[in-house]
Amino acid sequence: MRRRVIAGNWKMYKTIADTRAFFSSLLPLVAGEKNCDIIIAPPFTAISTAAEAARGSNVAIGGQNVSWSKEGAFTGEVSASMLLEAGCRYVIIGHSERRQFFHETDDNVAKKSLIAMETGLIPIVCVGETQEQRDSGLTEEVLRRQFIGGPGALTQDEFSRILLAYEPVWAIGTGRTATPEIAAAAHRILRRCAGEKFSVHHASALRILYGGSVKPDNIQGLMAQEELDGALVGGASLDPKSFAALVKAA
Ligand code: PGA
Repeated sequence: MRRRVIAGNWKMYKTIADTRAFFSSLLPLVAGEKNCDIIIAPPFTAISTAAEAARGSNVAIGGQNVSWSKEGAFTGEVSASMLLEAGCRYVIIGHSERRQFFHETDDNVAKKSLIAMETGLIPIVCVGETQEQRDSGLTEEVLRRQFIGGPGALTQDEFSRILLAYEPVWAIGTGRTATPEIAAAAHRILRRCAGEKFSVHHASALRILYGGSVKPDNIQGLMAQEELDGALVGGASLDPKSFAALVKAA
């Protein structure tokens, strides 16, 4: 049985003060939850505050992005060791908003995953097709390409430590969540890729989160699918009560 994960991606929301307020509301609500891993990924500026607030609790902190370089003259970038020092245990890599608006490629995803692993961070690698690709029957091809070019470039040992997130671009921030069946079918494709590239054992141990308009009122249907090992949540992670409700439903 794979342990479930509920991860919140705050994107470019919440100041340091907002972060303090969020954690003082959230922590008592999830204090007794031992059945899943709980992660919050705040913006860079609020990571230390979040890590401080969550210290000793069952909530871990993640970054939303990381540089592929260890250090250097890369204005505006943040390194894996900086994230680790600030209190991160995880880092989201290859989110569709990074791919879409900041031109990140599968090659970037592979390099970022590698440096995250070397530094001791656990990558949460995101893949997913656009509406246009789905409508053209390209979903499997796109997922395979993103898998092979990104996490598929890791070694077996590295791959066994990552989390994968299936996030169909058409479901992110749109209120149009994938049906549990559509999500499960995509997860099966990704698990097959993992089996082909690594091993059956790696495929069955791999935890794949679903992301895209997950809310307290649709999580139950999604989590009823054995294929879904948790959720990566944007909008509904901003409110402590709704995020706690997602944790309880997992
Ligand atoms: P959403 O975002 O839950 O607001 O759709 C999900 C994500 O981008 O990870």
